[in-house]
Amino acid sequence: MNILVTGGAGFIGSHIVDAYIREGHRVVVLDNLSTGKREQVHPDATFYEIDLMAPEVKDIFEKEKIDAINHHAAQISVTQSVADPAFDAEINIVGSLKLLELAATYKVKKFVFASTGGALYGEQDYYPADEAHPTQPISPYGIAKLTVERYLSYYRENFSIHPTILRYSNVYGPRQDPHGEAGVVSIFCKQLLKDQQPVIFGDGEQTRDFVSVFDVVNANLKAVSENCQGTYNVGTGKETSVNTITALLIKASGKTLPPRHNPPRMGEQRRSCIDYGKFNKDHGWQPTQVLDEGLKGTFNFFTDSVR
Ligand SMILES: NC(=O)c1ccc[n+]([C@@H]2O[C@H](COP(=O)([O-])OP(=O)(O)OC[C@H]3O[C@@H](n4cnc5c(N)ncnc54)[C@H](O)[C@@H]3O)[C@@H](O)[C@H]2O)c1
Repeated sequence: MNILVTGGAGFIGSHIVDAYIREGHRVVVLDNLSTGKREQVHPDATFYEIDLMAPEVKDIFEKEKIDAINHHAAQISVTQSVADPAFDAEINIVGSLKLLELAATYKVKKFVFASTGGALYGEQDYYPADEAHPTQPISPYGIAKLTVERYLSYYRENFSIHPTILRYSNVYGPRQDPHGEAGVVSIFCKQLLKDQQPVIFGDGEQTRDFVSVFDVVNANLKAVSENCQGTYNVGTGKETSVNTITALLIKASGKTLPPRHNPPRMGEQRRSCIDYGKFNKDHGWQPTQVLDEGLKGTFNFFTDSVR
């Protein structure tokens, strides 16, 4: 298959590109390198350094005969979305719509969309949240993701596009960006490597559902197949506190640097955890990476990258 991966120079997208190429697909990457890195793009992928909003994106569809789109390009920072909701909406809503319009024009049926479980369900009514949990995003970032999910229903009904929506929890792993939803892992790794105490905001008992990027890649391998359509949570169903993450990373680093606590951040979500039962039942997906090993691997990646 010819697969267009937007954001394929970024953290999650670049791992997906590697896996699609390993599976024998031909991959085209669209990325403006705003946070992505050229060296993360697999050498066998066809790379276009271009903004999602550029009219020339049409030329890629004209030339590359795209069979499937995997849309990961986005403004990924919740904080940035609060500071500038219009900018967030421009890239995350309008950019996605432009891509959907091209999918409709060029009759690309398969469309995989990277959504979010964490920011979409907001402060949850129950734990873990399944896909039927009310969506109550409290940030412009979450609102934009939900809006694109709604547009995907419109394109499914009117243009025979087959969407697969993957609602990730907090994704961690090698190449991760400090601004993303599991940014805390890369921030702590970098602090520890500089022999600085990890800084925890608040009491550290806030929880997240940390899923490995390698499990997310497996979800994307399933998502691109013809019979995989619908909305699926991609997480572990387990809550891990920031205190636990910090302790595991300190252990992985072999250092004796106790964490420091700063005042809590305004509006920070307290708990988050999502149920992957539906994806498991329909397509056999489940997380396989053990958290402390995954964190060790991530710490080693950052150690190697500063050498
Ligand atoms: N990291 C997480 O925990 C997490 C959780 C839920 C959802 N997601 C979603 O997964 C996707 C990938 O996130 P990531 O963590 O890999 O972040 P990332 O910043 O590493 O990847 C995003 C990529 O998109 C590119 N990009 C941004 N704006 C662009 C534009 N206007 N035109 C072209 N390219 C553009 C960036 O250069 C980057 O390579 C995003 O859609 C994000 O919202 C991430």
